[in-house]
Amino acid sequence: MQISFVAPSDVRPNQGGGAWVVAAAEGGALLPAAMTADKASGGALTRALKFSRFTGKAGQMLEVLAPAGMKASRLLLVGLGKADSVDEKGLETLGAQIVGRLHAAGESAASIQIDVPPTSGKGGTKVKKAELAAHLAFGAKLKSYAFDKYRTRNLDEYEKKLKTLRIVTPDVPAARKAHAGLAAVADGIFLARDLVNEPPNVLYPAEFARRARTQLTKLGVKVEILGEAEMKKRGFGALLGVGQGSARESQLVVMQWNGGPSSKKNKKSARPIALVGKGVCFDSGGLSIKVGAGMQGMKGDMAGAACVTGTLMALASRKARVNAVGVIGLVENMPDGGAFRPDDVLTSLSGQTIEVLNTDAEGRLVLADALTYTQRRFAPKILIDLATLTGAIVQTLGYEHAGIFSNDDQLVSRVQAAGRYTGERVWQLPLDPFYDKMIRSKIADMKNIGGGNSGAITAAQFLLRFIEKGTAWAHLDIAGVAWQDGEQKPQIPSWGTGWGVRLLNRLVKEHYEN
Ligand code: BES
Ligand code: MN
Ligand code: ZN
Repeated sequence: MQISFVAPSDVRPNQGGGAWVVAAAEGGALLPAAMTADKASGGALTRALKFSRFTGKAGQMLEVLAPAGMKASRLLLVGLGKADSVDEKGLETLGAQIVGRLHAAGESAASIQIDVPPTSGKGGTKVKKAELAAHLAFGAKLKSYAFDKYRTRNLDEYEKKLKTLRIVTPDVPAARKAHAGLAAVADGIFLARDLVNEPPNVLYPAEFARRARTQLTKLGVKVEILGEAEMKKRGFGALLGVGQGSARESQLVVMQWNGGPSSKKNKKSARPIALVGKGVCFDSGGLSIKVGAGMQGMKGDMAGAACVTGTLMALASRKARVNAVGVIGLVENMPDGGAFRPDDVLTSLSGQTIEVLNTDAEGRLVLADALTYTQRRFAPKILIDLATLTGAIVQTLGYEHAGIFSNDDQLVSRVQAAGRYTGERVWQLPLDPFYDKMIRSKIADMKNIGGGNSGAITAAQFLLRFIEKGTAWAHLDIAGVAWQDGEQKPQIPSWGTGWGVRLLNRLVKEHYEN
């Protein structure tokens, strides 16, 4: 989908075909562009309003087909809701809803002309005109995503026909500028969604690593790939244990975006922020094998790694002034004669030993070594890991919040605020020595399951054992939000959601760019 910004002077009611999208605020009053459209169509909108339930509430739509006296194929009047509550997130949703409607209608071209509504004066919308246009475009773009590469029949049934979208805005250069940053984020989200949606026979660890390298190297990200021999030499005993039953080679990918201060000048301020992702390309459970229904969808068990990769893409594409590293542990968890067993004891990169009591609690093993490696090599300012770690977090929080666990309150409130802004919300759950006791092992330093309730918490306690003193760390359990059945929100399609790319981008933008 081609998105462009045009000035109002370049739009004439009778110019060209396609849909013309205009808006009304809550209460039903037509905003200026809607009034122009109404006049040009001889009052078609005013007449239609009389026979509809449209009141201008956010998300409401009213359509007039083939308006008399106009070339436009349709007029689409959309509701903006209360003028004072128009914000970036709402505009994204609106942009996505509009594109959804136009897809359903089979339109191939459209112009959107939405004015900033007058406010009551108390606070009022804080969104500037250029930002309004940019966020509409962002929502529209997010909605245009499709993962159709494996369809070979009846393609027209799935085709999204909307090819060109013009957004009318008084300040075209400012809108383009605001949009450039968001377009970079959309690229990162699309990469993350693609990675999650790919089937596991196609996207195994080495293929994931290859894609990360090709996609990111061209943006100026330094990408290193460690294979099994390298990791074995260094002592990645926990990560390698998980991958040892797979025919596919395990990989560790290290991605560095150096957009911030150089470490030659000032060592301390050059310390990067670090993102670590769980990349289990398929989680069968291993010898502690999952039942059929529980195994379905486990191609998405690399969503943490996908989010990290997508975020690095977003940061690099918009040339964020930050030093950021992404480290992802890529493995496949399979049952096999060579697989690791329940009762095995693994020695992690940190030196701590782990008694494996369930091979299906594999994500924490992968993360343990990735976390140790990241801290030792980069001494990051902050460390955030993302993982589809437990079914327990899905039972606890469902699909609307990810769980956050942390040893640093400031980091938690920053992530929470970023999540409120982007709509990717997080909810804090506790860490406490009480839960740590639950992972004591009879023979090793710890065991890999708690063996009782509070499974998301014991998983986080396990990770905490690999966090070194002084590291500000947060763990996001994204098992409930990384993919979804069907479309729950207009800007998020079915399956891979790309959850977290926007959140992390926002976090960096607000607090870690200089
Ligand atoms: N990848 C799963 C967690 C998961 C479950 C993600 C459902 C998304 C949806 C993880 O590796 C796992 O299997 N966890 C086990 C841990 C248990 C064996 C302690 C779980 O949650 O059942
Ligand atoms: Mn598992
Ligand atoms: Zn898993």
